Amino acid sequence: MGKRKKIRDVYWRFVVLLALFSAAAFAGVFANFENKLGAQDALPTAGGIIAAVTAVPALLPTVKPASVTPGMFLPPPVISASPLVSPSPPPSPTLSSPAPTLSPTPPPTPTPTPIPSPTPIPSPTLIPPSPTTPPPSQPPAPSPSPPTDPPPGAEAKYIAITFDDGPAHKTTDRLLDILRDNDVKATFFVQAYHLKDPANAKTLARMAEDGHEIGSHTWNHPYLTKLSAESLAAQLDDTNAAIAEITGVVPTLLRPPYGDYNDTVRAAAAERGMSLILWNVDTRDWQSKNANAIIKHVKKHANDRAVILMHDIHSSTVDAADAVIKNLVEDGYTLVTVSELLKLKYEPAPGAVYNSGK
Ligand code: NI
Repeated sequence: MGKRKKIRDVYWRFVVLLALFSAAAFAGVFANFENKLGAQDALPTAGGIIAAVTAVPALLPTVKPASVTPGMFLPPPVISASPLVSPSPPPSPTLSSPAPTLSPTPPPTPTPTPIPSPTPIPSPTLIPPSPTTPPPSQPPAPSPSPPTDPPPGAEAKYIAITFDDGPAHKTTDRLLDILRDNDVKATFFVQAYHLKDPANAKTLARMAEDGHEIGSHTWNHPYLTKLSAESLAAQLDDTNAAIAEITGVVPTLLRPPYGDYNDTVRAAAAERGMSLILWNVDTRDWQSKNANAIIKHVKKHANDRAVILMHDIHSSTVDAADAVIKNLVEDGYTLVTVSELLKLKYEPAPGAVYNSGK
């Protein structure tokens, strides 16, 4: 029986050893797998195995109590082996330190989210639209201008002031200033030969820019009824071309010098789509050359839808202009151009003769 017990002892020693080895190996493999760090982590695993092997002899005596039946495999030694593997946990703190190195990598992912916030920057593109909205607010301003001068109770009165024989920059420029300051539009009948002088051409250009109406007073002021058909045509065509070259607009109004016209002149005007414009208030400013006389004359003879004749080549006429205009406005007149005056009642017809808007 003693010999048999010895065999059993050897058997159990083998079983316990096997169990310890397998436990140590398992712990090492598990640790290795967990941190994926390779050679460095293999060291604690090897240490665990060595510790287990050296501890086996000390352990064996405890196993000695062989109250166990031959056919049974005992689990208890396996449980006691687990404390031996516990030395392997110390490496885990070292594993925790590499883990932080991995955690820094996640932070980079939070930083990408701040990047989306810069995308709001594209929103500034929405700011441009707002500048476009101010422009619409500006248009409203011009709209008040349409309402001209609606008199309270009395019916509206209109009148056209006209200036012949220019442009003469020495006097006409000052007149243009007065008209601008009074916010009034006039009608100028110009002689084209004046336009050879660049200063006069410049005056004509400003006239057009300021919104005044420009008609023909022929090239150099002849009696049109005394001209040949050829000369008459030249007087009209050359003048229209010279004016259009500067203003961009071909005149539709003709004021015959001295008011001299006949059927031939009317026909020639009609061919060119032009109406003949005379007057019904003659200031005779060329004769008096006196500002007060001009002012008094207009004040006395002004009437609704009249056409007033003056000459912008005389400084006395320009001197009178401001008072003439202010008196007319004070008397309830709305100052308009000749075309505006005629269109209150007529659609001006080519070749027709008008001396007022009545
Ligand atoms: Ni004239």
